[in-house]
Amino acid sequence: MYYPEELVEEVRLKNDIVDVISGYVKLQKKGSSHFGLCPFHNEKSPSFSVSRGKQMYYCFGCGAGGNVFTFLMEYENYSFVEALKVLADRAGVDLPEMEYSREAKEKAELRTVLLEINKLAAKYFYAQLKSEQGRTAYTYLRDRKLSDATITAFGLGYSNKYSNDLYRYLKTKGYPDEMILKAGLISADEKHGAYDKFWNRVMFPIMDANNRVIGFGGRVMGDGKPKYLNSPETPVFDKSRNLYGLHRARTSRKPYFLICEGYMDVIALHQAGFTNAVASLGTALTAGHAALIKRYVNEVYLTYDSDDAGTRAALRAVPILKSAGITAKVIRMEPYKDPDEFIKNLGAEAFEERIRQAGNGFLFSLRMLERDYDMESPEGRTAFMRETAGRLAEFEEDIERSNYIEAVAKEYRVNPEELKKLVVKTAVSAGLAKPAERPKATMNREKGREDGILKSQRILLTWLIEDENIFRQIEKVIGPEDFLEPLYHTVAELLYQQHKAGAMNPAQIINHFTDEDEHRRAAELFHTKLPELSTAQEKEKALRETLIRIKQNSLDERAGRLDPADIEGLKRLMEDKRALQRMKELHISIN
Ligand code: UTP
Ligand code: MN
Repeated sequence: MYYPEELVEEVRLKNDIVDVISGYVKLQKKGSSHFGLCPFHNEKSPSFSVSRGKQMYYCFGCGAGGNVFTFLMEYENYSFVEALKVLADRAGVDLPEMEYSREAKEKAELRTVLLEINKLAAKYFYAQLKSEQGRTAYTYLRDRKLSDATITAFGLGYSNKYSNDLYRYLKTKGYPDEMILKAGLISADEKHGAYDKFWNRVMFPIMDANNRVIGFGGRVMGDGKPKYLNSPETPVFDKSRNLYGLHRARTSRKPYFLICEGYMDVIALHQAGFTNAVASLGTALTAGHAALIKRYVNEVYLTYDSDDAGTRAALRAVPILKSAGITAKVIRMEPYKDPDEFIKNLGAEAFEERIRQAGNGFLFSLRMLERDYDMESPEGRTAFMRETAGRLAEFEEDIERSNYIEAVAKEYRVNPEELKKLVVKTAVSAGLAKPAERPKATMNREKGREDGILKSQRILLTWLIEDENIFRQIEKVIGPEDFLEPLYHTVAELLYQQHKAGAMNPAQIINHFTDEDEHRRAAELFHTKLPELSTAQEKEKALRETLIRIKQNSLDERAGRLDPADIEGLKRLMEDKRALQRMKELHISIN
C-alpha cells in the first residue's frame, strides 16, 4: 500500500458511486437503489443495481459487484492505482508522489520504458506500412482481405528491409541499447553490433487489456521460416497471461469469447463482426489464460484449426477451462483450415451458424475418442462405452455427472440406467485397480471440503454485512480468528472493528486491498449468493449450521497446531469445544 488509507478513503467519499456509474450506465431510481443494464454481461432487463447508501454496486444477473474503485477497475480494466488517480483527479484531490522502495521503483521504471519503446516501435512499423517502402506489405494485407479500418484498428505495420533502422530510430529517441535489447526488438553480437530482430515482415503489435503494446508478432510475406517470429518474453510480455485481441474483445459485451489460434483468425473474426475473438499467443492455453478469461466471461467457444494439432489443442484446453469454471464449446471449421479461411470462403452468417451448432466440449472429446474404436462392432462400442464411463466418473459434482450421463446416453442411444451402473462400477474398480490414482482423488475431496469451508465463510461475511441484528447475536461465538483464510481473516477483522465502532462500511473495507486480485476477491466477499430460504426457521437453521461448520474447522485447525505441552492452550481448546457443543442449541432470532 503506497497511499495512506485515509487518502484513499477521501477519494472514495468524494466520488459518489451513482454519479460515477451514471457516466457509463443509464440508471433509474427504484426504491433505495438505482437500476440499469449491467455493463458486464449481456442482458435485456436491468439487474444491475447501485446503492447510494452503501456506495456499492451489484448485478443480480452475473454477480459483479464492489465499490466505485472496483467498478472502474472492472469497466476500464484499470489497476487499483490507475483507478485511484482517475477518481482523485475527478474529485480534485491531490495525490502525493508515490513512495516506492528503490527496487519497486526501478522495476516500475523499466516497465514504463519498455512500454514506451514498444509503442514507438509500433508507430514506426505502422508508418513504414503506410510509406512507399511498405507497399508490398500493404498489398499483402489487402490481398488477405483486410480493410484499411481493420489495419488501423489492429495497428498492423511493416518492418522493412534495412537491418537496423528501427534500432537507429530508437537511438535518436534517446533509448540506451540495454533497454532496446530488453524490449526484445534487437539482437546484438560483437561482430555486427546491434541489428533489428524483425526484418521484412508484416507486424502485428500485441496489446494487453489496457491497450498497451507489450510485444510483436511478425509474419513473412511468403513461405519463409519461421512463418511468425514473436517477441521474446520480457518484463512486460508474459505470453501465458495475455491474449491477442483481448483489448477489443473485453468490451464486446457478449457473454462468451471465441478462442482461436492465430493472429489472422482474430483479425478476420473481428472484421466480420465477431468482436469477442481472442487468441492465445502461439502457445497452448494455460491456467493463466483461463483465469484471465474468467474475469470477463464464463463461457468460451473454441474455434481452433481443423487439423490434428488444432483438435488436440482443443481437447487439452477443455479441462483447463473447466477447472477455471468456464464452460467450453467447440466449433468445427471443416472443410476449412481455420476461422480466417472459413470466413473468407463462407462469410459471417455461415460462421454464426457454426456457433449455433457448436458442440459441448466433453461430447466433442468423445467424438474424437470414437476414432480409436471400431464403432460398428459390439465389442468396439462396448470398449468405447467403458472408456467413456471412466471419463464420466471423473465429474466430481453429482448433478453434473448425471447430466452428462444423460446426454451421453442420448447421444449414443444407450440406456441411461445401465450407463449409470457402468460409471459407478468403473469408478469403484478404478479406485481398486489403480491405487496410484487414489491420492489424486483424496486430494480432490480435500479440495472440495476446503472450498466448502471457504464458501461458508463467505456466506457468513455477506450475512453479517446485511444484517447487524445477526451480527450482534453471533459476535460472541465467532470472531475474526475463526476466519482462517488470510484475506477473509483481514476482512473479518476490519468488519468487526467497524461493527464495534457502530458503522459498517464494506465499501471502505474493499479499498483496504490495493492488489487487483485481492481487491476483486474482497469485493466478491460481500456479494456471496445467500441460500434461498423463505422462513425464519430455515434461515436460523442454515445460519447455525454455517456457524458450526466454521467454528469446527477453526478448532480442528487449532488442535492440529497445538503443542501437546501447552496445557493452557489445551484448556482453552476444550472450553471452545464445549462452546461449540452449545452452539448446536444456539437460538438466533431472525427478523
Ligand atoms: P498457424 O500456422 O495456424 O498460422 O499458426 P495462421 O494463424 O493461420 O497464419 P496465416 O493465416 O498463415 O497467416 C497459428 C498461430 O501460431 C503462432 C502464431 O501466433 C500464429 O498466428 N505461430 C505460428 C508462431 O508463433 N510461429 C510460427 O512459425 C507459426
Ligand atoms: Mn490462417
